Amino acid sequence: MKLLVTGGAGFIGSEFVRAALGDRLPGLSGAAVTVVDRLTYSGNRANLAPVAGDSRFRFVHGDICDAGTLADAVPGHDAIVHFAAETHVDRSLVGAERFVRTNVLGTQALLDAAQRHGVGRFLHVSTDEVYGSIVEGSWVETAPIAPTMPYAATKAAADLLALAHHRVHGLDVVVTRCTNNYGPYQFPEKMIPLFVTNLLDGRRVPLYGDGRNVRDWLHVFDHCRALALVLRSGRAGEVYHVGGGTELTNVELTERLLAACGAGWDSVDNVPDRRAHDLRYSLDITKIRTELGYEPSVGIVAGLAETVAWYRDNRAWWEPLKPAADAGAGPRTGQLVAR
Ligand SMILES: NC(=O)c1ccc[n+]([C@@H]2O[C@H](COP(=O)([O-])OP(=O)(O)OC[C@H]3O[C@@H](n4cnc5c(N)ncnc54)[C@H](O)[C@@H]3O)[C@@H](O)[C@H]2O)c1
Repeated sequence: MKLLVTGGAGFIGSEFVRAALGDRLPGLSGAAVTVVDRLTYSGNRANLAPVAGDSRFRFVHGDICDAGTLADAVPGHDAIVHFAAETHVDRSLVGAERFVRTNVLGTQALLDAAQRHGVGRFLHVSTDEVYGSIVEGSWVETAPIAPTMPYAATKAAADLLALAHHRVHGLDVVVTRCTNNYGPYQFPEKMIPLFVTNLLDGRRVPLYGDGRNVRDWLHVFDHCRALALVLRSGRAGEVYHVGGGTELTNVELTERLLAACGAGWDSVDNVPDRRAHDLRYSLDITKIRTELGYEPSVGIVAGLAETVAWYRDNRAWWEPLKPAADAGAGPRTGQLVAR
């Protein structure tokens, strides 16, 4: 199977590529992988260093919005796994234009290219944030989408475009929506790597508002296993939820990260809450469980311990990224954090 992976130099995309080429994903043994990545601030060739010498791997430095790049890269592939996106919510609150460009127009360009070049399956990787907040219970795949901030709005638009291409043109589209991922190689502007790398440097960490926001935390490898199952066996035109990690408030997560890094609450700054900060996301994963046999495999205790150990052992990976992460938008980043 020949896979085209967009955004494969980012956090989740690179995990998918390393795992696919390591023959660790169900149904994808022996697959060849072409990565198309623009290498924005969050894309990093170092994330693909472990597979750089693999004869089944090819890297194309290019933009999914660019028709010429897609005309060169897309033909000859059996499937597209579409990760490429602008992904940081805080940055989308400061300026949403590049989110619309990549997440909406880029997805549209990729759908057109898939159609034009006869690619079989198009797996669009999306997020639980498209539904907005849910106080109790969990969203099912048929729930109406109601995104509350620009990042989620652009992802929702892309989801709808992908599903429309299935209905109108018969493109073999599947959409996944996953909860919050954690693990190695995540750009250190997102909560877990930001907190861990700050604490490992003896710096303070910024906790939004009262810290009562709830997220379901899933190890990135489990997300990639689920993507492989959907890619192989998901039904065309369907949405599949991925989750089943552990729901934690930000206070509970902070507590665990402080303990893992040997720090106390005196290392925490309470900063003003993110604007339009959704209180809770939660997904029902019955569909992927019953149809495709998905179960998460990495428990939160072992997963967080392994993740913190990875950042402790791979300082050379994240140290060069800290200035760009600190320069990002929002109270979580920038000088406010440094003190
Ligand atoms: N991180 C999460 O917790 C999470 C949860 C659910 C869904 N997702 C989705 O998974 C996907 C990957 O997320 P991530 O956390 O790995 O993001 P990331 O920011 O780490 O990686 C994004 C990648 O896309 C590339 N990219 C950006 N714009 C591009 C363009 N125009 N052309 C080509 N490449 C471009 C970047 O260089 C980078 O390598 C996204 O679509 C995101 O919405 C993420």
